[in-house]
Amino acid sequence: MKVRIVEMAPRDGLQNEQARIPTETKVALVDALSEAGYDEIEVSAFVAPKWVPQLADAAEVFARIRRREGVTYAALVPNEQGLDRAIEARADKVAVFTAASETFNRKNINASIDESIARFAPVVPRARAAGMRVRGYVSTAFWCPYEGAIAPGPVVAVAKQLIDLGVDELSIGDTIGKAKPEEVNALLDRLLDAVPQDQIAFHFHDTYGLATANAVAAYERGITVFDASAGGVGGCPYAPGAAGNVGTEELVVALRAAGAEIALDLAGVSAASALLASALGRTLGRRARPSTPNGASSSGSPPAS
Ligand code: HMG
Ligand code: MG
Repeated sequence: MKVRIVEMAPRDGLQNEQARIPTETKVALVDALSEAGYDEIEVSAFVAPKWVPQLADAAEVFARIRRREGVTYAALVPNEQGLDRAIEARADKVAVFTAASETFNRKNINASIDESIARFAPVVPRARAAGMRVRGYVSTAFWCPYEGAIAPGPVVAVAKQLIDLGVDELSIGDTIGKAKPEEVNALLDRLLDAVPQDQIAFHFHDTYGLATANAVAAYERGITVFDASAGGVGGCPYAPGAAGNVGTEELVVALRAAGAEIALDLAGVSAASALLASALGRTLGRRARPSTPNGASSSGSPPAS
């Protein structure tokens, strides 16, 4: 089956970095990713700068990137104020985001799940009227950093509410990277009865190294859209303990081995990862190891987070 990878490095990848990353680096990253053949890149987030200072320059990033024909440049929006900014910046697609866990949602967007859905009610039709496609994230779909295991029932309920609001696509998030393939299958047993398969994407973080196995499990159930980040960067400031998104490079190799067709140039992805690694001043990728002076590979480099 054909699989689409939605690239997360500029948004999820950078939102949790402590050091200030210059706007020009973000622009260079998006431009390098555009060259790698993605059809969708999540560029930034129009959220409150007080909550996520790292992405306060979202409008400037959008203004300066070189847009490639056929590529969708997307942004996160938590409310109408975010949508106004996304329209002004000419984003092609917006993503609203809520969660299956009340505690995480409160900490992340200062709202209950119902309040957040009510906030999105005017956002979705306005975005569609402005010609944008709309994605809806359901975070903490397996595990919550505050509440522990999350059962499929609440995930399916939130997913249905977002579909009823009119989102084009859901992205189901393993926010803290703790899911296992059997949990993915258990969720899909319920979710596929409620939501069309072609409206479901998965967003796996990779804290325990199971993200590629989870993605392959979902692919085997017919899911064909996955989020990933070049070099495996990422993490949510309000999800303590989460590692980065699954690395695009690893995910593409794993899904191709499972039979997926993915039109992406891995050399181009690696070039974007290298640019990012140099900007962040550290090695990226779970399996990347720094070279030692005698050319041998040393062990012990930390996982990307
Ligand atoms: P709040 O403090 O309750 O909002 O935050 P408020 O409406 O009271 O506004 C407070 C201030 O923020 C006001 O400014 C607003 O104007 C401003 P002040 O009067 O104090 O100067 N404000 C905004 N400014 C710019 N753009 C906006 C905006 N909205 C309000 N859109 C709010 C509520 C939702 C705004 C806040 O909690 C927020 O921005 N949260 C975002 C947190 C976030 O970005 N988390 C990471 C992304 S989610 C994620 O990573 C998970 C995901 O990857 C999937 C997965 O892994 O599971 C997607
Ligand atoms: Mg995430």
